[in-house]
Amino acid sequence: MATPLEDVGKQVWRGAFLFADFILSQPVMFRGATVLELGAGTGLTSVVMATTAKTVYCTDVGEDLLSMCKRNVTLNRHMTEPAGGEVRVRQLDWLQHSLCTDADGEFSWTEEEVADLYDNTSFIVAADVCYDDDLTDGFFRTLYQLCSNFTHSCTIFISIEKRMNFTLRDMDVSCEAYNYFSHCLSQLHDLMDGRCCFRVEQLPSNFAQFFLYERIEQLELWKGTFSEPAAFAGSSVTW
Ligand SMILES: C[S@@+](CC[C@H](N)C(=O)[O-])C[C@H]1O[C@@H](n2cnc3c(N)ncnc32)[C@H](O)[C@@H]1O
Repeated sequence: MATPLEDVGKQVWRGAFLFADFILSQPVMFRGATVLELGAGTGLTSVVMATTAKTVYCTDVGEDLLSMCKRNVTLNRHMTEPAGGEVRVRQLDWLQHSLCTDADGEFSWTEEEVADLYDNTSFIVAADVCYDDDLTDGFFRTLYQLCSNFTHSCTIFISIEKRMNFTLRDMDVSCEAYNYFSHCLSQLHDLMDGRCCFRVEQLPSNFAQFFLYERIEQLELWKGTFSEPAAFAGSSVTW
């Protein structure tokens, strides 16, 4: 509650621990994959992911935060290098419409990386990134832009903590950010306009716990699957 919004990326949130636990309990799923993390903050989830995945694009905004994240990645290389995993810290701002490819930016993308991202990303992951409605809009817009330009199917994992707040508007306790997240998930489904299909499900959170944190019941993990319509022939597209 005391963290100013601009500094939220400088601490590890429970959603990151939950998803890191999920990776460690399902390492085969991610083995050798190309993964994009959105709103990575300290980089913990990307580092854990790179203990099994091949390339992890670990993204967030702001030189300051990205530099801290890169330091964390470097400090933890001994965890990722033995498995051949690599974390590349890059800028990806949900409020911008393109990836920064300026040659002189430390966290800019090369043309090869952009091509690799579009051609090879099989997982997009994000931990605790839906806490402000404007940012949540930007986050879902980014997801849509990325996935609708992929030539292959992609799986998305989003962890979220359903935070209850008292609001003067409702004069009651509500979970507005969570409700907006649910609303955006259903909008994303409607946006898919026949170019691809989107299925979503909440995963049970009963996998093994490796990290020390409180796995409260408000912590949730969601899985979304984007794929070509043909892949769903004969099955009902669920929502
Ligand atoms: C609550 S923190 C979660 C950090 C990390 N995933 C974790 O769970 O520990 C939200 C993250 O979203 C990032 N973020 C906020 N606005 C963003 C934007 N416009 N584009 C990309 N990332 C953004 C923040 O910098 C921060 O790292």
